Amino acid sequence: MKFLEKKKILLIISGGIAAYKSLDLIRSLTKIQCEIKTILTKGGSEFVTQLSIASLSKNKVYSDIYSVENESEMDHISLSRWADLILIAPATANIIAKMSQGISDDLATTVVQASNKNIFVCPAMNVRMWEHSSNKQNIEKIKSYNYKIIGPFNGEMACGEYGDGRMADINYILNELDNFFKSKSNNKKFKAVVTAGPTREYIDPVRYISNRSSGKQGYEIAKSLFNSGFETTLISGPSKLTPDPNINFFKVNTAEEMYQKTIENLPCDVAIFCAAVCDFKIKNLREDKIKKNKDLNLDFEKNIDILKLISKNNNKPKLVIGFSAETSNLHLNSKEKLQNKGCDWIIANDVSKNDIGFDSDFNEVSIFYKDKNVENEIISKTYKSVVADEIVKRVINQLNLI
Ligand code: C5P
Repeated sequence: MKFLEKKKILLIISGGIAAYKSLDLIRSLTKIQCEIKTILTKGGSEFVTQLSIASLSKNKVYSDIYSVENESEMDHISLSRWADLILIAPATANIIAKMSQGISDDLATTVVQASNKNIFVCPAMNVRMWEHSSNKQNIEKIKSYNYKIIGPFNGEMACGEYGDGRMADINYILNELDNFFKSKSNNKKFKAVVTAGPTREYIDPVRYISNRSSGKQGYEIAKSLFNSGFETTLISGPSKLTPDPNINFFKVNTAEEMYQKTIENLPCDVAIFCAAVCDFKIKNLREDKIKKNKDLNLDFEKNIDILKLISKNNNKPKLVIGFSAETSNLHLNSKEKLQNKGCDWIIANDVSKNDIGFDSDFNEVSIFYKDKNVENEIISKTYKSVVADEIVKRVINQLNLI
């Protein structure tokens, strides 16, 4: 448990019979010198007491009994900022449902909602509750927020029924957390640059051409890289999204500015070009606003191809990944792009479908590799955050091979 040692864990105990196991969890964590603060929900307090938790964790236990002291400390913010990680064990179907919907009607759910930390959820409930489609949907939803699910295990439950729903064993939970900190620490040596969003190519001081890209996929990739320990730089065209404050963030408008910022951020280990860069720009940028009483003809010229230039740069990152948004011949065009651009992978998505791609929360992608025998690999339709995690998993594997 080398990597978990001495970490600050914010433990949320919600109201399930497995709450008694959390006392053991606290003991195991304190043995490896973790610092633990606990939030005990109203339901949780029906199963274990504040006194037993405080005695074992040797630290304060927070609950929904608000006091002036609590309010002045702004617990719902400060607790999550203090922690290295938030662990919810046991997590009942109820707290999972609330988290999936953003309901913040007590301290625990408010802290989760206001958190900027990795969140691990250990479900524990009756097998029928676990298998209920509402719960399945809620689990998918919280996975899309990048919450990690540990368990549940299969076996006999407190109610006498048998199946999935037992809280994962303490050692298993500790191992998962240790692995998380381990991979974070290993990845600290890697530097990543991500481009995202559209670019704007100006016609005159107030008008421009652009496209519908929201930046979601690129922001999710940057978030996933950062959460996995990478030193992450995000270079974004205009987007309504806000990145994590710990990500190095540069806002740009034009393709030229995006290129300059990318060059300034080399060398790096991996560069992922998610931005929907305008292929063309206006030939003669007008200095004054164009008047409407004149006929308008615009001349375009090819824009700078950032991906291509970086793939040929002397400072080329170890791994260069491009995206390919296509409305037809996805495979053929993507394989051609892999060749033409000189990058290592192309991640292709079909933007003719309304339910994935541009401005959607969902995506479905095919990854084309330069140096692998497989023709391509498909990540089936899922949340963009999950696609991001899948891509980052593959990036980590590859960088560890180079
Ligand atoms: O050529 P196409 O626009 O289809 O290529 C898409 C890929 O190239 C994306 O990764 C995109 O970010 C990148 N690109 C770029 N600069 C351009 C055009 C595309 O970096 N001017």
